[in-house]
Amino acid sequence: MKISVYHTPEEVPAGSLPDCAIAIDVLRATTTMAAAFHAGAEAIQVFSELDKLLADSESWPAQSRIRAGERGGQKVEGFDLGNSPLDHSPEQTKGKRLFMSTTNGTRCLQRIQEAPIVLTAALTTRQSVVDYLLSNQPDTVWLVGSGWEGEYSLEDTVCAGAIIQRGLEQAGLDLATTIGNDSALAAVSLYCQWQTELGKLLYHASHGQRLLSKNNTADLDYCAQLDILDIVPIQQSPGVLVWKQ
Ligand code: MLT
Repeated sequence: MKISVYHTPEEVPAGSLPDCAIAIDVLRATTTMAAAFHAGAEAIQVFSELDKLLADSESWPAQSRIRAGERGGQKVEGFDLGNSPLDHSPEQTKGKRLFMSTTNGTRCLQRIQEAPIVLTAALTTRQSVVDYLLSNQPDTVWLVGSGWEGEYSLEDTVCAGAIIQRGLEQAGLDLATTIGNDSALAAVSLYCQWQTELGKLLYHASHGQRLLSKNNTADLDYCAQLDILDIVPIQQSPGVLVWKQ
C-alpha cells in the first residue's frame, strides 16, 4: 500500500486517481459527518453549491432531511444547521438524510469523487480508517486535506500523519515502501511531534483560531479527540456517503 498526502484538493495530480481517496476536514466537516452517522443519519449528500443543495433536497420529505450549510465557519441563513459535530443527536438526526455544503470539506470530496473508493476521515475516526485500509489493502491511497480556501491546514495534515503512523505501527509496514510522497513523510513527522498535544495544535491552527474568535472551543475540543468513533463514511454514489455498520 502506497500512501500519498495532499494538503489541499488543489494539490492532487490532475488526470490520475488512486484506488482509495480519503477526504479529511478535521475542523469540522469530516468530523461532523462521522458525528452525524453516529447519531443515525441515513446518508449524507454533499454539495459545493448551496443553490443546488436547496434545489435537490426539495424533493426529499422535509421530515426526513436536514439541510446543513456553512460558509466561513458560520451557519448559512435559512439552513437547518451549520457544521458543528455537536449539532447531531439521535433525536435530531436519526433516520434523516443530511444535505451538506461547507466552505472546503464538501469541495474536497467533489474533487476526489471519481476514485473507485472514497472515504472520509477525521481524528475522531482515525483508528477505524486505519483498520479499513489494513483489511482492504488498496494499492494506492490519497489522503487529501481540505485546507482553507486553497491554503494548507495543520489539522488536516496532522490527521493524515496520524493515519499513516498508526498503520505503520499496527501492521509493521515499512516506511520507505508505504510513503508515497514528501508530504506523507512530513505529515507523519508533524503527527509524531504533536501526537500528545493534538488539542494544542488545533488551537494554534489558523482555522482553530478562526473558531476561537467565535468562542467555539466546544467544537475544537470535540474535533481534537482521537479514535472515539468506529465509523468510516464511504461514498455509495457520487456525492452520497453512507456508513454500513
Ligand atoms: C470547512 O469546510 O472548511 C470547514 O468544515 C469549515 C467549518 O465548518 O468550520
